Amino acid sequence: MARQAYVNGRYVPHGSAAVHIEDRGYQFADGVYEVVTIIGGRMIDEEPHLDRLERSLRELEIAMPMSRTVLRMVMRELVRRNRVEDGLLYMQITRGVSPRDHKYPGPSVTPSVVMTTRQGDYANSAKFEDGVKVITIPDIRWQRCDIKTISLLPNCIGKTMAARADAYEAWQVDADGNVTEGTSSNAWIVTKDGTLVTRPATHAILNGITRLSILRIAGEEGIQFEERPFSVEEAKSAREAFTSSATSFATPVVTIDDRTIANGKPGSLTLRIFECYMDYCRGLREPKSGGQKERARRAG
Ligand code: PDD
Repeated sequence: MARQAYVNGRYVPHGSAAVHIEDRGYQFADGVYEVVTIIGGRMIDEEPHLDRLERSLRELEIAMPMSRTVLRMVMRELVRRNRVEDGLLYMQITRGVSPRDHKYPGPSVTPSVVMTTRQGDYANSAKFEDGVKVITIPDIRWQRCDIKTISLLPNCIGKTMAARADAYEAWQVDADGNVTEGTSSNAWIVTKDGTLVTRPATHAILNGITRLSILRIAGEEGIQFEERPFSVEEAKSAREAFTSSATSFATPVVTIDDRTIANGKPGSLTLRIFECYMDYCRGLREPKSGGQKERARRAG
């Protein structure tokens, strides 16, 4: 069977899947999305992703287009139809189709729901052994980066700059010289005394689901961590660095701009976190916390 996509209640061939030209996602980037990794046929951190999706929708006053139970069923059905064992599911909800007008339309407009899947063994990559380069760029985004909106042009510009510099990612830097996050990942360092540091989840960053899992694992492993801003200079002289997301897990960073981090090899704490996180993804490690209440508290 050819690859399928889900579009507004229908499973359709991926190649001909379409939404209307007056969809507000197309005209205003008025929508939100989630990317969920699939490993061994399981969707990783499905519930926290749905928590964040609902939060993003709430913040933008877009109605949840269907119950969470139905949403889960659609996700499963698409993964089943496309026989995805390893890969990802992309889910996008926009405010819907309405004649072009900046202000939000009334409640009669139904949100558009699109889902696609992609095959790919994201967990197996040389980057986990070799590490990657990141560049630093000014953060030119808006002040609600906590919302996972499809409005991603600054992120696209940054990622293109990274690619042109032969780098994997661009870490964005605020007006104070502190790293906010990558264009599609969260930024981490390990200080000389072995403390894991990442920026706190304010409006300045997307509160990554991988970020939350790594913080939970750090707690379980007794790894000391701090949620605080860190500067580019601090990152460049850190003992270790890595970048996290649903598709890059915990990817070791060995070069920042033109500075080699420590001995230029992935750090031991980074690799330990990567292994623990992969065990968790493969179902070999149960979270010791992280129930509904805890998730809601963390998602904010
Ligand atoms: N990006 N920060 C930004 C700006 C992101 O776009 C992402 C994810 C993250 C990490 O979030 P998570 O751990 O939940 O994947 C942080 C996805 C993968 C993307 O846009 O493809």
